[in-house]
Amino acid sequence: MRVKVKNNVSWVGIIDWELETFHGDDYSIMNGSSQNAYLIQEGKTVLIDTVWTPHSDRFIDNLKAEINLKDIDFIVANHGEVDHSGALPELMTEIPETPIYCTANAVKSLEGQFGQRGWNFQVVKTGDTVDVGNGKELIFVEMTMLHWPDSMATYLTGDNILFSNDAFGQHFAVEEIFNDKADQCLLEKEAMKYYANILNPFSPLVARKIKEIVSLNLPIDIIAPSHGVIWRENPLQIVEKYAQWADAYQEDQLTIVYDTMWEGTAKIAHHLASVARELSPDTVVKVFNCARTDKNEIMTEVFKSRALALGSPTVGNDVLSSVGGWLHFLKSLKFKNKKAAAFGCYGWSGEGVKILQEHLAEAGFAVVEASIRSFWNPEEEDLVQARDMVEELLG
Ligand code: FEO
Repeated sequence: MRVKVKNNVSWVGIIDWELETFHGDDYSIMNGSSQNAYLIQEGKTVLIDTVWTPHSDRFIDNLKAEINLKDIDFIVANHGEVDHSGALPELMTEIPETPIYCTANAVKSLEGQFGQRGWNFQVVKTGDTVDVGNGKELIFVEMTMLHWPDSMATYLTGDNILFSNDAFGQHFAVEEIFNDKADQCLLEKEAMKYYANILNPFSPLVARKIKEIVSLNLPIDIIAPSHGVIWRENPLQIVEKYAQWADAYQEDQLTIVYDTMWEGTAKIAHHLASVARELSPDTVVKVFNCARTDKNEIMTEVFKSRALALGSPTVGNDVLSSVGGWLHFLKSLKFKNKKAAAFGCYGWSGEGVKILQEHLAEAGFAVVEASIRSFWNPEEEDLVQARDMVEELLG
């Protein structure tokens, strides 16, 4: 299957409606995904990226239905991760001499994953160009650490298409391919989830890279990422979103996350929510049990929030493992510009709240003074402290 993107540029990727997780099981996929590859047929025939290994056969059969593989003049590997390079080994057995344009780091990651196979790598860096015929050329832009050392974007002059690879993508299956055909609410949600869970740790680099791309003064008519929709209607909307998201993003939201053993800590969580609604009616308040709700979905809500309240009972001189694991992931995402508070029940040693506060501070949150630490079950005097906590979090 091929879909015309513009003039002589086609989408030749795979839409994967069945995919449920990504990066092993570390990223949940609720609405399918796609691995986007592109074919340029100008004076030169160019393949940009491939697909994940399990789809190699289907991808190559589809390509063969469209072109003679021997007509491919060169391949651009914008990124070495297997969801985009996984079909290369099979493809290269058919066209072993075909040049592969990529960054120096991509040579390392491709050879690291697939071994040294004698592929004809053509190493490029930012600003390098290659002619594709008919007065058009490709311009390469290194996207180091967005999100791998090898990442790169490729720009096609004349058609003004930015093949951005992972940047500006989403794990979101849209059979009609283009952003104007997608459910707009789901599209924004999935784009934000992708940013919050994959790109947020690199936000300072995102901000710098957006400035660099803007300074190149390249007209951009289409942004064609390697996952999800192709942005053809107002493509710069996703660049503007990224600029906002990279700048310590927050909305007027409080997210309350907890796990509980015998419902005491759950009671505090829900009491905090009702106090927040009373004291700050315009603030969006959401409550999640992190043992039950998908962690990537919760992190997207934390990304949107200006404050987080996190609760766990004390268990074994520590916090519940569900909360400990969740905190570990939270730290890795490097959220900025957010307040946090801790709460929880205990029966004897009671250090859970302090442990939560320490970890939240290490995760970059401004931890407020107020906390709720309830002996066995929350009593009236504990719940009164909820007002102080909410005022400090939302004040
Ligand atoms: Fe970093 Fe879509 O792979």
